[in-house]
Amino acid sequence: MKTINIAIDGPAGAGKSTIAKMVSKELGYIYVDTGALYRTIALYITENDIADEDIEASLEKADVSLKFIDGAQRVFLGDRDVSDLIRTPEISMAASRTSAIPAVRAYLFETQQKIARENSVIMDGRDIGTVVLPNADVKIFLTASAEERANRRYKELSEKPDCPTYQEILDDIIKRDYQDMHRETAPLKQAEDAVLVDTTELNLEESAAAIVKIINEKIG
Ligand code: DC
Repeated sequence: MKTINIAIDGPAGAGKSTIAKMVSKELGYIYVDTGALYRTIALYITENDIADEDIEASLEKADVSLKFIDGAQRVFLGDRDVSDLIRTPEISMAASRTSAIPAVRAYLFETQQKIARENSVIMDGRDIGTVVLPNADVKIFLTASAEERANRRYKELSEKPDCPTYQEILDDIIKRDYQDMHRETAPLKQAEDAVLVDTTELNLEESAAAIVKIINEKIG
């Protein structure tokens, strides 16, 4: 059976994962969050204190894998489920840095392609439409202004202890955008054949509905 592949790319905090989850539920596809793979490599490097020059050689021992449990993605380092551990600001920044290393991208490339070959997926990341799935059936570039993305993250975190300030979150977002867009290998950019969806003025339901409409128009 032909699998359907939907690529969603865009900057940090544009709502990709929440929106892609909503859309995948509606369409019955598997949602694949590729950022979690980069975060897990960053955790592996941080925990094992691996020096930059040793990263490439250490990757074959990393043993990163994705499992889908009750439809939800979990990411494993060996047999340890690290899905929650990778969601810290430190790992966000470390993932942005390690994702610029060509050997890291090459290591995760095949993992991502294999999942898309075997399943109908909505895969989100930075280079899915441009590099990982250049023949995806539908490509979306999801974005929102940096200020609005910082606003959303601040609201999300404001209930938690040690919440960073709005300005710290905005600075982080601007720094990560710059790193993700200016790296040499597979930088974040809109694929020529991707449809741009700007969610600055849209809520989650409106954003998901806009994407479902684009998908239905393309693949019927
Ligand atoms: O989507 P996220 O914030 O969880 O991603 C973490 C980092 O991983 C992000 O700074 C960029 C990188 N990344 C990437 O380079 N390519 C992808 N396909 C997904 C994420």
